[in-house]
Amino acid sequence: MSDAKPLKRLYIKTYGCQMNVYDSERMADVLAPLGYAVTDRPEGADLVVLNTCHIREKATEKVYSELGQIKLLKQQKADGGGAMMIAVAGCVAQAEGEEIMRRQPAVDLVVGPQAYHQLPELIARTHRARGERLAADFAPEAKFDALAAERRPTGVSAFLTVQEGCDKFCTFCVVPYTRGGEWSRPAADIEAEARALAEKGVREVTMLGQNVNAYAGPDQQAGGGLAGLVRRLAKIPGLDRIRYTTSHPRDMDDELIAAHAEVEALMPYLHLPVQSGADRVLSAMNRAHTAESYVRLVEKIRRARPDIAISGDFIVGFPGEREADFEATLQLVREVGYASAFSFKYSRRPGTPAATMPGQVAEEVKDERLARLLALLDEQAMAFNARQVGRVLPVLFEKVGRHDGQIVGRSPYLQAVHAVAPDRLIGQIVPVRMESSARNSLAGVLELETA
Ligand code: 5AD
Ligand code: SF4
Repeated sequence: MSDAKPLKRLYIKTYGCQMNVYDSERMADVLAPLGYAVTDRPEGADLVVLNTCHIREKATEKVYSELGQIKLLKQQKADGGGAMMIAVAGCVAQAEGEEIMRRQPAVDLVVGPQAYHQLPELIARTHRARGERLAADFAPEAKFDALAAERRPTGVSAFLTVQEGCDKFCTFCVVPYTRGGEWSRPAADIEAEARALAEKGVREVTMLGQNVNAYAGPDQQAGGGLAGLVRRLAKIPGLDRIRYTTSHPRDMDDELIAAHAEVEALMPYLHLPVQSGADRVLSAMNRAHTAESYVRLVEKIRRARPDIAISGDFIVGFPGEREADFEATLQLVREVGYASAFSFKYSRRPGTPAATMPGQVAEEVKDERLARLLALLDEQAMAFNARQVGRVLPVLFEKVGRHDGQIVGRSPYLQAVHAVAPDRLIGQIVPVRMESSARNSLAGVLELETA
């Protein structure tokens, strides 16, 4: 922990059994990265958690009377210009649910047992709802925090940030803590920037966002979303190609799918992370989709745009992942058929809920699963590339190649394409007949006589 951070004070009152004592300790652990340190008095605390028990009679009434006392402390703190958050956790929370908040409106949060790992998410959201910034203690280590997009040469193809942050709180991920909540740039600003890029010769923009398809610009008409933005950018003269990354399955709405069918400039490529093919793992990951809903979604997208290249992210060895769960991931990969993918071994990010989940998977098991997954994904990528051989695809040439006389560009499916062609074609979209393929690229010849 950094010394300079202003600590928040956390008071946890534990009722009942050993389980609750254990859970209270875990709650303190998972809240530490949000800057909370445990105190032994409720007075002046920033967060009070009552970890309740339902077993003994009158337990519920005891909780309400305790809440009455804490409400007074909350009032005192508010009078002094501070803020106290009150959370009720444990078995009473489970049994009474929202009734607690109705009976005692001073309560900010109710969390069931076994759900202590959701506390950071709930607390972070509550802070955010109040417009406060959290002093999160995550090292801004770039590996997973960074957008998966690779840097590409400026000039022909450019990145354009349209959205930042994430509210999804996948249990393995630091982004919601490090980057904060979802935030979208005004569409008018984005359009102006895209126009300026096009005037400088940019032919392709990739709209970037941690959750880009959750885009909801403040000046968008209702329902406009990312689809509205795509249609706006598609009207800009000279801007022939539009891409976006990264998308969450939950935000893949019908308008955006329709845009894939209707907007010529929107490239047939979609990065749609699934992470796992096993529902119990997806649920532990807090992904808000099932394997089946994901497969159905991909089918729907393919009905709109049959040739679309689907790309994904996968995590192997998430806590509790069994061999059968991993096999469900392989099965999903076979059903979907990916053009490309990024795969990761689960790695513990301190402070995220998954880091303290039971059933952490041994490193050798992760290695072995990753190797099997990569073998299957490689096979699919090779097959996808091989299917383009013989076709004529429009290629946007971006730079000179490694070999003399060769230039390199991208197919609509984001594949690298090499061709022997004059440098002056860099910056142009040219039909190329695909002649051979490899794991990461294609080679082709110019289809038209352009010399
Ligand atoms: N361990 C492994 N992979 C992770 N990712 C994010 N956090 C973790 C983690 N703790 C992966 C996810 C995400 C991608 C950008 O990084 O697959 O989609
Ligand atoms: Fe992280 Fe993506 Fe999940 Fe957001 S949707 S929490 S950025 S993995």
